[in-house]
Amino acid sequence: DQLHAYRAALLYSLDDPASVGVAASYRHLEDGLLLVADGRIRALGPAAELLPGLAPTVAVRHWPDALITPGFIDTHIHYPQTGIVGAGGEQLLDWLSRHTYPTELRFADRDYAEQVARFFIGELLRNGTTSALVFPTVHPESVDAFFAVAAELDLRMLCGKVLMDRNAPPALCDTPASGYEQSQALIERWHGKGRLGYAVTPRFAGSCSDEQLHLAGRLLREHPGVHLHTHLAENRREVSWVRSLFPERSSYLDVYAHHGLVGPRSLFAHAIHLGEQDCRQLAASGAAVAFCPTSNLFLGSGLFDLGRAERLGLKVGIGSDIGAGTSFSLLQTLNEAYKVEQLQGRSLDPFKALYLATLGGARALGLDGRIGSLAPGHEADFVVLDWNATPLLQFRLQQAQSLAERLAVLLTLGDDRVVQETFVAGVSRHRREG
Ligand code: GUN
Ligand code: FE
Repeated sequence: DQLHAYRAALLYSLDDPASVGVAASYRHLEDGLLLVADGRIRALGPAAELLPGLAPTVAVRHWPDALITPGFIDTHIHYPQTGIVGAGGEQLLDWLSRHTYPTELRFADRDYAEQVARFFIGELLRNGTTSALVFPTVHPESVDAFFAVAAELDLRMLCGKVLMDRNAPPALCDTPASGYEQSQALIERWHGKGRLGYAVTPRFAGSCSDEQLHLAGRLLREHPGVHLHTHLAENRREVSWVRSLFPERSSYLDVYAHHGLVGPRSLFAHAIHLGEQDCRQLAASGAAVAFCPTSNLFLGSGLFDLGRAERLGLKVGIGSDIGAGTSFSLLQTLNEAYKVEQLQGRSLDPFKALYLATLGGARALGLDGRIGSLAPGHEADFVVLDWNATPLLQFRLQQAQSLAERLAVLLTLGDDRVVQETFVAGVSRHRREG
């Protein structure tokens, strides 16, 4: 394949900030050149060094006032909930029955599911998100629709049929047996096809029987490469309800652990109301959690303790959790993460924030080495961010000196408007108008 060259400022994370202390390490090239071929990053370096050696046939695209970062990674999002963003008035359990379940009923219709999946993926790309771990609905059709659209665009995406066999409208419930069989068939159809991966997805302990969770564990054992994706300890009422549903288990996490669902390929959304012991157990198992600040604030769920997660060495990614979350933009999600940290007496370092949305997300999903970085060999998923996207950004950045300050401003004021172009496996898949 042909070599493509992209010139702009380049920025990507190097190490886990928790492992190196407070300061996150990163690589920044003020005027860099990114060389891409065959959907992968071949090389990068200062433009002044690399340009002279470039064959004259290689076209160079140049953004003099933009920043290229790895594409953003959303570690927890529900595509069927695109149509209920901002539906408020309740906390988690009532929000599920009043808004979520009614909208999810429509995804039995494959055509409707595909229409929403197409819009949803368009929104991800407009916001610079190139990979995500995605909830569909209980319907296998909703998985087929999502993966079909993702495959067309060669996106690295994780998804898997929702398992739920109780405490929801009957039309949204499967059975342990049907859920198991449909998951098997979907794994065979989609897992490892192109850049797609399957995630066994019991909705949460509140909607799954012991038998269903047991079979989810069996699916993981039978297919060692697949992920496990679920919710954990999001809301206080949910936590006490789950404890009453599983009185024989020592904690919410123990419900999952008992069935073999807690391991290095598992991702748990929220993990807010969790004891220190459970947090340690999660870290020791190699599991990851998704910090979903806009959702946690919108539903009034609570404040995720990022400081404790880092102290215990727990892997953390950032999640929009659309539709309880209120923005597809991971920049806006990080803006809210900053405030959640402030409410707990800490300040989120901008480079650490960038890490959470890129390399940290990749590590949380076991996809580091493939995505989340601009280092050579990585898949060429990257975004071009425009420093001048809005009048306020432009004005504010005139007063900002350091890269840290400029990045903090971008994370605070940025949203879909700053995403000038989004590249997926080396191909431009979104280009902002104007
Ligand atoms: N817990 C179980 N289902 C859901 C869901 O759809 N959204 C959120 N935020 N939490 C859940
Ligand atoms: Fe969720």
